[in-house]
Amino acid sequence: MPRKILVTSALPYANGAIHLGHLVEYIQTDIWVRFQKMSGNECWYVCADDTHGTPIMLRAEKEGITPEQLIERVHGEHFRDFSGFLVGFDNYHSTHSPENRECANTIYTRLRDAGLIEVRTIEQYYDPVKQLFLPDRFIKGECPKCHAKDQYGDNCEVCGAAYAPTDLIEPFSAISGAKPELRNSEHYFFKLSDPRCEAFLREYTSSGVLQNEAANKMQEWLGLPGDSKLTDWDISRDAPYFGFEIPDAPGKYFYVWLDAPIGYMGSFKNLCARQGLDFDEYFKPGSQTELYHFIGKDILYFHALFWPAELQHAGFRTPTKIFAHGFLTVDGAKMSKSRGTFITAESFLKTGLNPEWLRYYFAAKLSNTMEDIDLNFEDFVARVNSDLVGKYVNIASRSAGFIAKRFAGQLAPAAAELPAIQAIQAAAPRIAELYEAREFGKAVREIMALTDGANQYVDSVKPWELAKQEGKEVELHAACSNALNLFRLLTILLKPILPAVAGKVEQFMNIAPLAWADAQTLLAGGHAINTYEHLMTRVDPKLIEKLVDANKESLAPAIEAPKQAESPQRHAQHQQNELKTASPWEPFCSIDDFMKVDLRIARIANAEHVDGADKLVRLTLDIGNHETRNVFAGIKAAYDPAQLIGRLTVMVANLAPRKMKFGLSEGMVLAASDTAGQTPGIFLLSPDSGAQPGMRVK
Ligand code: 2FM
Ligand code: ZN
Repeated sequence: MPRKILVTSALPYANGAIHLGHLVEYIQTDIWVRFQKMSGNECWYVCADDTHGTPIMLRAEKEGITPEQLIERVHGEHFRDFSGFLVGFDNYHSTHSPENRECANTIYTRLRDAGLIEVRTIEQYYDPVKQLFLPDRFIKGECPKCHAKDQYGDNCEVCGAAYAPTDLIEPFSAISGAKPELRNSEHYFFKLSDPRCEAFLREYTSSGVLQNEAANKMQEWLGLPGDSKLTDWDISRDAPYFGFEIPDAPGKYFYVWLDAPIGYMGSFKNLCARQGLDFDEYFKPGSQTELYHFIGKDILYFHALFWPAELQHAGFRTPTKIFAHGFLTVDGAKMSKSRGTFITAESFLKTGLNPEWLRYYFAAKLSNTMEDIDLNFEDFVARVNSDLVGKYVNIASRSAGFIAKRFAGQLAPAAAELPAIQAIQAAAPRIAELYEAREFGKAVREIMALTDGANQYVDSVKPWELAKQEGKEVELHAACSNALNLFRLLTILLKPILPAVAGKVEQFMNIAPLAWADAQTLLAGGHAINTYEHLMTRVDPKLIEKLVDANKESLAPAIEAPKQAESPQRHAQHQQNELKTASPWEPFCSIDDFMKVDLRIARIANAEHVDGADKLVRLTLDIGNHETRNVFAGIKAAYDPAQLIGRLTVMVANLAPRKMKFGLSEGMVLAASDTAGQTPGIFLLSPDSGAQPGMRVK
């Protein structure tokens, strides 16, 4: 009996671009879904944009458009990017939809009727200028613990302390800069502390729905029986807010995190209407269907506690399993806008990189744990070129031409007893288990070992030599036909990862879409193939340089918008922080690596404003030896150009020149800034007196 499976990936916020960090999850999910579909299961993959909340409301305001216009535009961009990476959603919807409103209202009403909603008055910071209650992340001030300035209202990025916004010293609104006032307001709480929720969550989180690591974390978050750490969850926000108004509470809105997971249901409901599926079959309690959520480890709290508790007590089924994955690092470090490693999906495709290179690379790195994965560019180039082009595609490119030219495109019968063929057929069920268990890295390793076996066969029969010898037609025909059969089998195993290549293979081999079960069959003698067209090119390392350059932000320190401007709940945030690797330091670099940076004393010979640039100053730097360099520095907020002329500073003299909108920048001056990278905290370095332009700094 085919299984009936509903799969989701986390809903991306509708106010930012999709980047490679996001893609780890969507590619992982898509591979799993494609494997299920190929295996004959009825599997539906739904997602949506997460559209509500204060940041989206403010962003639209800043752009001079309505939130509806903003989310519609971003929906198009997100869908374009996901399609570009071959992420095959069955539905990509929006949380701002009638279906989602209906589901949110149902869940809320049922929880209320079950006595699990409580109204309480709370004191909260209010921005008197902007006239709105401030989410924690829009309040800044001095950390009460380590006294670092400019820290968010929920936790300090310098010392890691978690606190309430009211604990901040000299708080200010990050929107208007105004001093916030404390005001009272009625809020709606989901009573997670209710004994029914606690009992259910203890049982649920230890029933095997979570990875071990996540289950342990949950037990910690739940606290000991009789000493529960669960606190009620604030699910309402005051107007003005972009979201759904609570049905029986005018002027109060569902907090974005309430209707976000419900967005999975909303998207599926929309799909059901279009496909004639039975929504209740999938969401009724005791449903025989399976429900899986793929998420990042940072949002476990919402998916493993709040969400199942809501579903359970509103009379719906709960998730079968929650699969949490780690974060993406690039070349061993956190993705960074200034280093150009915060790479958008759009730029990857625009630079001309093949999305299946990344799908393959991520697959090779993925496991079913919550460990972070690293995109190492050197390794990326080497692996794709060696595995996909050098090994896999090579099998077809060395044999297809002879079949076309010498045998009118027709295959000889395959040798079913060939060890390389038998090895693949015997391994297919094992590889299926690895896909099912989300052990994609292990699956890729097995597939590549089988690919090596196929290449050894081709190397042993040497079709290119047989082709030159007279009277070896039969051997040549058999060798190439076996090679193409091997290639077809390997394509089946790789198809969840490389759907576009598999499509091209199906076309050139003139075969129906490959299913997993086809790994036990071979092509019949006489089968006619179509003309072979090259399936994949090698990665040119220059493309990677281009990609990184395209993602480098201006030299000005970027003011990073918080990903989650609404702190869900301080305790949740606090617990999540423990899961992140919170080191404030860059990883070690060797002395050799450090010495590659040519730091020189420079005299600022001239400094001037740059027309049309808010943050930049154009510097002419004298670096001795009668040489000058033109550098754009993001220091306008902190320095008046006239005051800079004549002073000494330190520059990176061998930074690759970079074309900017205003001209060529030939280096970078060194400045210190506070951790949040906020002006006016920019402090240009100066050497001790006696230093001369051109001296090396090391
Ligand atoms: O963390 C995020 O990016 C959220 N937008 C994820 C929401 S997932 C689901 F709950 F909707
Ligand atoms: Zn601190």
